[in-house]
Amino acid sequence: MNERDSFGSKFGILVALAGSAVGLGNLWRFPYLVGNNGGAVFIILYLLFLTIICLPLMITEFVVGRRSQSNVFGAFKVLSQGKSGKAWGKIGFISVISALVILSFYSVVGGWTVDYITQAVCFNFKEGLDYEQTFRYSSENAFRPLIFTLIFLLFTAVVVIMGVNKGIEKYTKVMMPLLFVMVIMLAIRSLTLKGAGEGVKFLFRPDWSKFTIDTVLSALGQSFFSLSIGCGTIITYASYVKRNENIVRLSTETALMDTLFALLAGTAIMPAVFAFGLTPAEGPGLVFVIIPQIFSQLPMGGIFAILFFVVLFFAALSSSISLLEVMVAYLIEEIHWSRKAAVAISSLSVTVLAVLCSLSLGMLKHVTLLGNNIFDFMDKLSANILLPVGGLLFVLFAGWKMTDKEYFDEITNEGSLHFSPVFLKILRFIVRFVAPLVIVLIMLVSFLK
Ligand code: PHE
Repeated sequence: MNERDSFGSKFGILVALAGSAVGLGNLWRFPYLVGNNGGAVFIILYLLFLTIICLPLMITEFVVGRRSQSNVFGAFKVLSQGKSGKAWGKIGFISVISALVILSFYSVVGGWTVDYITQAVCFNFKEGLDYEQTFRYSSENAFRPLIFTLIFLLFTAVVVIMGVNKGIEKYTKVMMPLLFVMVIMLAIRSLTLKGAGEGVKFLFRPDWSKFTIDTVLSALGQSFFSLSIGCGTIITYASYVKRNENIVRLSTETALMDTLFALLAGTAIMPAVFAFGLTPAEGPGLVFVIIPQIFSQLPMGGIFAILFFVVLFFAALSSSISLLEVMVAYLIEEIHWSRKAAVAISSLSVTVLAVLCSLSLGMLKHVTLLGNNIFDFMDKLSANILLPVGGLLFVLFAGWKMTDKEYFDEITNEGSLHFSPVFLKILRFIVRFVAPLVIVLIMLVSFLK
């Protein structure tokens, strides 16, 4: 039997995981949700869910992925072998669907970043330009966004075809540190603008009148989305992680890095929004309408704009390859397709849905599903429903189907790592009781309201 592909170095795993976590979720989705949901209250809820649910869940996905050494579909089959309840083997399927749904709108936004790079490189973003009009042109036009979406998907597919070690690891190793430096630069620039203080207040001073069940559900969804939890990306990557790595440390480091990126992105965007007297509740166009406008009014803004959209593109790419890898690993290991065929077929299915998402902002605007256009529907369906439900099933499996011994053996590398017994008890308690109850409660309240 062939050895499974695995990551070459500890640094390589960390950047690949951080590469999956850090993406449009941090730089595009987080700032616009913060803007729509009143700022600090949303951020507090987001941080709370991140700590009490998503970090334990991430550790749990690591446990499942590394123990089973399998893709998300096979993982549950392998681990439930010899135990009753074959149905668990099917959980993985929800994950493959979630990855497909996320990629369908993610690649459209990825396409916008490619479009904006080309515009920035041509120094199109001048003072006085109508930026809403520009964004509308880039997002609502029938063909233009489709071409850029296809380019984005092509990049994704090429990296995934090259395989884990040669493709994903090599490429994220260079991009992540670069990305970090650029976002810090942008945040510093934004904070030093005149009038930036209002934006800082918006980010960090809570206005509790903004607390609603929708904010709670969006914050829960965003914490799943941002950490790439609930759809098996961590399970898939974890299956490539060596047996002697400390998975608690890896998860904590990934979560910290991801949170840092989100907060930095918020800090890069909100103060500038206020400094220029613009509105934070701009929706999915926020980054695309506001950022080039801000840059156009700054010295050397043209160069900053190019940098920013290049950063956004690479962040998006390292996440989209992790999403495609979920689908591809499933097709290779469960259906026994070649990597190339698996990439081709999964990219093709994503393309069909992506075309619908993109057209739903223009030509198909009138088509609505439960009051949302197709793009928003896919976005909400995945972040607020599919990921939390996937996560719920993962914790139920790990909490109630795996024994304490199996769970702890994997965390402690069969006893060779030592953690405080209190930490292990709390973790297990969260996995068995807290996480499932909180997820179920929030979903019930938001559906019954
Ligand atoms: N976490 C990624 C981001 O923030 C998106 C993603 C979600 C990737 C789920 C994989 C799985 O952009």
